[in-house]
Formats: sequence, C-alpha cells, structure tokens
Amino acid sequence: MAHDPTTSRTSPDRGLATRAVHTGERPPQPQFRPTVTPIYPGSTYVYDDIEVMDAALAGDETKYVYTRYGNPTTTALEEVIANLEGTATAIGFASGMAAVHTAIISSIGPGSTILATRDLYGHTFATLQDHFSTWGVKTELVDFLDLEATAAAIDEYSPDLIVCETITNPLMKVTDVPAIARLARDADATLLVDSTFTPPVLYRPADDGAHLVVHSMTKYIAGHGDVTGGIVATSRMRRRQLGDMAKLNGSVLGPFEAWLALRGVKTLPLRYKQQCQNALTVAQALEANPRVGLVNYPGLEGHASHATAKRLFGDRGYGAMISFTIKDATKEDVFNYLEALELIIPATSLGDIYTLSLYPAMASHRSMPLEDREQIGIGDDLVRLSVGIEDAGDIIADLEQAIRRASA
Ligand SMILES: Cc1ncc(COP(=O)(O)O)c(C=O)c1O
Repeated sequence: MAHDPTTSRTSPDRGLATRAVHTGERPPQPQFRPTVTPIYPGSTYVYDDIEVMDAALAGDETKYVYTRYGNPTTTALEEVIANLEGTATAIGFASGMAAVHTAIISSIGPGSTILATRDLYGHTFATLQDHFSTWGVKTELVDFLDLEATAAAIDEYSPDLIVCETITNPLMKVTDVPAIARLARDADATLLVDSTFTPPVLYRPADDGAHLVVHSMTKYIAGHGDVTGGIVATSRMRRRQLGDMAKLNGSVLGPFEAWLALRGVKTLPLRYKQQCQNALTVAQALEANPRVGLVNYPGLEGHASHATAKRLFGDRGYGAMISFTIKDATKEDVFNYLEALELIIPATSLGDIYTLSLYPAMASHRSMPLEDREQIGIGDDLVRLSVGIEDAGDIIADLEQAIRRASA
C-alpha cells in the first residue's frame, strides 16, 4: 500500500498535541465541488509527487506552492476581473496603491520619464513626485484634457510611461482615453489607466489601448466598504513582470480579501447600474436646488465632459460620483452640512453600496493651499458625493435638509 502521511500523522500512537495539529487536515481531493470558490487560507501547498512540487517551484503558473507567489482564491478573482476588463489576465494586490506602485515600477527603469495628468489621486501624485523622483525617475505633468498640450509634452519628453485616470477627482472630468492611447502607441510608451472611478460595467480602458488597467478594489469592485485591495488587468507578459515584482515586494492580495472581492463583484453590474441611475437623479435634483452652485457630473448636459462621457460610456451611464458647491459656503458651513447628514455617511472612500460624502478641502486636497485649490475649481464650498444604492428620494431628501442647515 502507498505511504499515506495523513494516516500516519494522525494515528492513535501519536501524542494528543500531534493529533490536534494534524487531524482533519489535507483531506484527499473530494468527489464534489463547492458551488462557490473556497477561501484557501493556506500559505503553503503540498504535493504527493515531489517532482510536481519541483515544477511548481520552477514557475509553473498552474500550480501553487506559497501564497505570496499565488493563491487559488486570488486566482479566481483575477480571472473574473480579467474577463470583465477584456484582458488576458489580471493580478491582485493588497491595496489600490500597491497596484499603482507595482504597475509603475514594472514599466520604468533608472532614468525613465513618466508623463502624468495633473489631476491625479493624491497618493499616486505623491508616489510619482516625492517617491520615484528620489530614484532618478522624472515625472512631467500636463493637463490630459488638453490633447494638444499632451501631444506636445509627449513629443518633448518621450515618456516611457503615461499615467492617467478615467474620471478625475473631484471635478469628474472624463479623460479621452482612446486619444491618449493613440498618442502613447505612436510614442511607443506604456499607458497606465487608473479606472477606479469607472468599473468595467461602464468602461474598459484596455479595449481602447491601455496596457495596464488599475483599480482600487476597495471601491466599486468589492463595493461594500469591507475590503482593501487593488488589481491590475493586463497582458500575460506584463502580468509575469508584475508577479515577479509582487513576489519580491510582497504586496500581494490576501485570500480573505480576494474572496470578499470575488463575492462583491458578482453584484457589481446590479449595484453599479442602480448607482449610476441614482447619481443622475441626484445630480438633476442638486442642479435644481437654489442653494447649490455648480454640479460636477458628466451625465449633466452642461458638464464639460458630457460629450466625451457619452462617447466612451455609451448608454451604460455616467458613473456614480458627483461633486457640487454649496452657494457661498465657508468651511464652517460645510462642516455643518456634514454634521447634519442623517442618511449619507460623511466618510472618506467611494464606491460603496451606501452614499458617502467627503469634503475635498479637508481630505483629498487637504495639503493643497487654498489659492491653488481655487484655481483648479476646488474651493472651500465644494463637496463630493459617492452615490449608493439606497432609494434616490431618500438620498435627495437628506442632501436637501443638510444643505439647508449648512448655512442656517
Ligand atoms: C483613483 C484612486 N486610485 C487609487 C486609490 C488607492 O486605493 P487604495 O486606498 O485601495 O490603496 C484611490 C483611493 O481612494 C483612488 O481614489
């Protein structure tokens, strides 16, 4: 009879402590399959045949040896995201920033130049400006909404990597990704698109030529405010590079988070459809509110990016992020508004099933001086909303009463 270590480890001849550790573990492959992918918490994997294990350690991507190299629960999530984004593959990370960071380092080397849009998520901006600059990597900034200036900057700097976001925060301007991708292709540069604000239900940057599509899964993909994670959807060749980097920097997604995100993504189309519908209804109500000044939402005809949004997103919606100004509001008035909210949660982050409101002057743009902020349209009177899946009427009623109390 073949040697069976499981039986041997748990035999009654063994001590109680040994049996407590080993009994019930490593059962043979079952005849059944669970209807959902299990969470595989094991950090290591065993093989009956040591030669197969040798192949796994040599890099056979279909096998697992150690969770920092790959994990079956994480693989399941990566498969569904690649499928939805229309890429060959994807790779999970411990956070959106780990995904951004690793995607950047996989595309540059010493002396590289990066061209990035001015309107970037604060920590991505800091990564480029403060972190990579100290390693001899130069980042040049230009407003990607100005395509002529972007083309000129590409000609001038010959960047190795181009970095942008699909919808800018907090003014909700829509980047013309197909046009930027054409410029990147002509310049032989890698294009990294942070698509956190536009899950693949709405837009798929890889279809238009992005090489690296990054998401903070903390937001729409997981969707319930209970996961921190990131993902990069990309080609097999780039995934291999990213995987090698992740192996070294250890920025991998844990299996519990992967499982929660896998569960979350199943309802992404339903959630996001409702969020987009709600956002349009809320934006229209805000526009009609005499106490509200500007409403930034690409679904509104007056928004500067309305035509681009229509072209990129078709009839799938305009996203679920809005920002608006409360007329003549001071910082104190906006604090009053946040404190008066009864349904909407005054918290940072976005993309959750519940509606969130954030104050850019206090949060994302806190370190930017008021004059600089005002120049780009982010004054003390600007508030951001991430619209959830609640009843639109309840969201609107809460906003109306809180806006009323802002300046009361
Ligand atoms: C556009 C964008 N990219 C990246 C990130 C970073 O994601 P995480 O917080 O999961 O690291 C955020 C976080 O707010 C974001 O808004």
